[in-house]
Amino acid sequence: MARDCLLIRSAGPLSGEVTLEGAKNAVLVSIASLILADGLSRLTKVPASQDVYQMIKALGELGITASFDERTHELVVDATTVSGVTVSPEIMKSMRASILLMGPLLARCGSARIALPGGCSIGTRPVDLHLRAFVKMGAVLAQDGDFLEARVNGQLKGCRIVLDYPSVGATENIIMAALGARGVTEIVNAALEPEVLDFIELLKSMGAQIDFAFPATIVVQGDAPLHATTYCIMRDRLEAGTLLMAAAATGGSISIPDAPVSALELVLVKLEDMGHVITVGSQGKGVTLVATREMKPISFKTMPYPGFPTDLQAPMTVLMALAQGTSSVHETVFENRLMHVPELQKMGANIVVSGDRAIITGVKELSGASVVATDIRAAAALIIAGLVARGETAMTGTHHLFRGYEDLDKKLRSLGACIDFVN
Ligand code: EPZ
Repeated sequence: MARDCLLIRSAGPLSGEVTLEGAKNAVLVSIASLILADGLSRLTKVPASQDVYQMIKALGELGITASFDERTHELVVDATTVSGVTVSPEIMKSMRASILLMGPLLARCGSARIALPGGCSIGTRPVDLHLRAFVKMGAVLAQDGDFLEARVNGQLKGCRIVLDYPSVGATENIIMAALGARGVTEIVNAALEPEVLDFIELLKSMGAQIDFAFPATIVVQGDAPLHATTYCIMRDRLEAGTLLMAAAATGGSISIPDAPVSALELVLVKLEDMGHVITVGSQGKGVTLVATREMKPISFKTMPYPGFPTDLQAPMTVLMALAQGTSSVHETVFENRLMHVPELQKMGANIVVSGDRAIITGVKELSGASVVATDIRAAAALIIAGLVARGETAMTGTHHLFRGYEDLDKKLRSLGACIDFVN
């Protein structure tokens, strides 16, 4: 059945218990990193999202076989031989994370040919920090049509790299290249997101020697003899945050026993500041939320971890649109990540945007409307808005949803949501 329109109606408070999938923002780089070691590796808790299928296709173009059982969420990758170093524009266009193939290909094969990643709705998404680091490590870049070619004569050399910005992708890509370099690489001002730390644990399970130093520095030993591994991807903190916010918006209650609470600390603080009652499970795993009916306004700015995650800014905006008072959001990570606001305004939200800031004055209720999702997290926000709006909301642009969540609609339905795909 075509799933290009999602109909959402208010069905009262969501309540119940849900389990999480593996983290979308950990799994893609984890799959790419398996190029580094020959042999058969196994990843478990792999979410059946569109981007995962695209990454598997990209491996296929490199001559690497991968088989994914979406029933067990297990992915087996045989990287014994890597017979290609080119990733097609089709793959690149549909999945920006393909740039994460450049680091492991340089490490293992000494070259990579990747179609230049385009921008997307949330910003230009440059890769200059990745490329500048590769050049500093000895790679030579050349542009060939819409392909970007990176090649190293001999071996990459380890060095000290100071990032302008703690870029998640650049940090991950440089770590993978550094594992194939001669000597030690230090990445200063590195991203330390939970997904990056989980990825480092995977690399350590392959035999990598990676340490942390001050300030925000990751130290990678090169010439690492890496071996195949079996690894379980961390649970998705962004899926957890999305589900908590859906329950909070509808005045419901939810329990997520496998939520990685330490990776959500500031999000939970902000939900508590709104008046929701949050209980954290023992050993810092698992969370329950009992919603307040009268949400207080809050303010935050999105920041690299442990600041407020940009990927939960859009869903949180919906709660602020229904709070009793005026809230504010400052999006500092991406230059165009308030695209969900015009769609929420169609539903009656009172939000004034100026540059990368939004002032949100709570309203009594939202009204259903026809809306368009512009990125993964905008889609999640519009669904949450539809769950509490009076009347029916029809959301298109659902392909964004499939890129970032596995069966979010099914999970919400299990909590009592009235949400269905229509042609
Ligand atoms: C990762 O994207 C995530 N994607 C994003 O999740 C997430 O929002 C982002 O990190 C920030 O946490 C995956 O992990 C697959 P960045 P990434 O490099 O690596 C600028 C979602 O919704 N920048 O940390 O692309 C960049 O333009 C997605 O789940 C450069 O200027 O993010 C942005 O403004 C969206 N030059 C900022 O840094 C570079 O070379 C953060 O980007 C690289 C990045």
